[in-house]
Amino acid sequence: MQDKRITLAWTGASGAPYGLRLLECLLAADYQVYLLISSAARVVLATEHGLKLPAGPEAAQAALAEHLNYQGDKLTVCGKEDWFSPVASGSAAPKKMVVCPCSAGTLASVAHGLSDNLLERAADVVLKERGQLLMVVRETPFSSLHLENMLKLSNLGATIMPAAPGFYHQPKSIDDLVDFMVARILDHLGVEQGLVPRWGYDHRPF
Ligand SMILES: Cc1cc2nc3c(=O)[nH]c(=O)nc-3n(C[C@H](O)[C@H](O)[C@H](O)COP(=O)(O)O)c2cc1C
Repeated sequence: MQDKRITLAWTGASGAPYGLRLLECLLAADYQVYLLISSAARVVLATEHGLKLPAGPEAAQAALAEHLNYQGDKLTVCGKEDWFSPVASGSAAPKKMVVCPCSAGTLASVAHGLSDNLLERAADVVLKERGQLLMVVRETPFSSLHLENMLKLSNLGATIMPAAPGFYHQPKSIDDLVDFMVARILDHLGVEQGLVPRWGYDHRPF
């Protein structure tokens, strides 16, 4: 049976709209989503989207459900030190995790296995269990340290997906650019999506 559970982490890189849209699409696809939110991600979400999440995980969960007009029961916002969450243990964690957006700081912590909070621990668990870890890194330019950390994780089996939308689908809005990235992420996760036309199939510009 297909395991329709996924861990989604939002960190403090620019790109909160990617994370929000990804959450919306995963819930629409009926996935159980364990959502981890770093302190910096909350600041970025408020700055880029005007959404100020309350501090506690339950209150943040309710605020997000209201914001997305989501009435289901498949969203779980986890606390930063909720070590009893399923995502903290290889015996229960979903096999798939996306860090989107992923800051250079979290990239470094995960590359070095720090596991100092639930978000970092969850990524460490997916790596050790040889699950699927997608890191949607956003920074520019990249330093050699960033590049080394990405290579380290890539060699461990993680997928590095820079938040770098294409323009060949002729975007008309910011939402179109966001959907481009989210579509690529969903494809990698094996989640059905029809957000943007597919190259060579439903999209031929000339
Ligand atoms: C509005 C805003 C935008 C930021 N954009 C980025 C970014 O694109 N990439 C990055 O690596 N850090 C960015 N930062 C800095 C990180 O948030 C900061 O390094 C933080 O410590 C990361 O912590 P976290 O990885 O626990 O979320 C940004 C911070 C703010 C407030």
